[in-house]
Amino acid sequence: MNLILLGAPGAGKGSQAAPLKARLGVPHISTGDMLREARRSGTDLGRKAAEYMDSGRLVPDDVVVGLVEERLARPDASKGFILDGFPRTEAQADALMAMLERNGRTVDHVVQLDVPEDVLVARLSGRRSCPKCGRPYHVEFTPPKNDNLCDVCGVELVWREDDRPESVRQRLRTYEEQTAPLISYFRNKGLLRPLDGQGSVDVVLDRVRAVLGG
Ligand code: AP5
Repeated sequence: MNLILLGAPGAGKGSQAAPLKARLGVPHISTGDMLREARRSGTDLGRKAAEYMDSGRLVPDDVVVGLVEERLARPDASKGFILDGFPRTEAQADALMAMLERNGRTVDHVVQLDVPEDVLVARLSGRRSCPKCGRPYHVEFTPPKNDNLCDVCGVELVWREDDRPESVRQRLRTYEEQTAPLISYFRNKGLLRPLDGQGSVDVVLDRVRAVLGG
């Protein structure tokens, strides 16, 4: 299955991708995680991306499109993928559709997680993330089993730089201006599956599974 998770920062894309990946047997491809990994490794790309990420702006299209094209060409993505955080602009969406078409592939569903802004802010302000696998937690809503340690990797959870209040405000603005137009873009292609992203992670997962057909 070729799936895109679309939604504002904090809508729960990463939280849904983790269980879906196991269920569908396809890789979870998060451009945010890829950029953070490049940053930790100290590559040129990582250093350039850091300036954009910390200020809540989008990394230039050609950089992320190149990353995704390379990632989708790997053997594990041949059976399908879950894209999280990509595409985020119309230019990225056009590039994705064209690269899939060149390889005789397409997108099956674009699941849009709809969450009101006050809930997004509450989620982001309490988020902690695993620096190794990227899995998100929340100090109140989805805490780890052991104090501040990732359930999967056992490493200490961190607070993302861009979850500071001023970055969050900018990220939400960027989403409205540059990414929200993709809702009508995918609706016009008959691919959009909008759903209520409120409720527990499991409740939302049941809704996602229902739109994907089980
Ligand atoms: P990225 O890492 O993609 O961040 P984002 O899109 O802002 O999304 P988030 O990771 O913040 O939210 P999410 O929807 O995954 O929510 P999560 O599941 O974590 O991008 C970061 C930056 O990288 C961008 O700002 C940009 O600079 C750059 N970038 C990335 N991709 C790019 C691209 N394509 N083009 C250009 N630049 C790009 O959940 C959030 C919190 O809520 C967690 O604490 C979680 O535990 C909790 N939670 C989730 N679901 C629920 C629920 N149902 N109930 C209660 N709590 C919940």
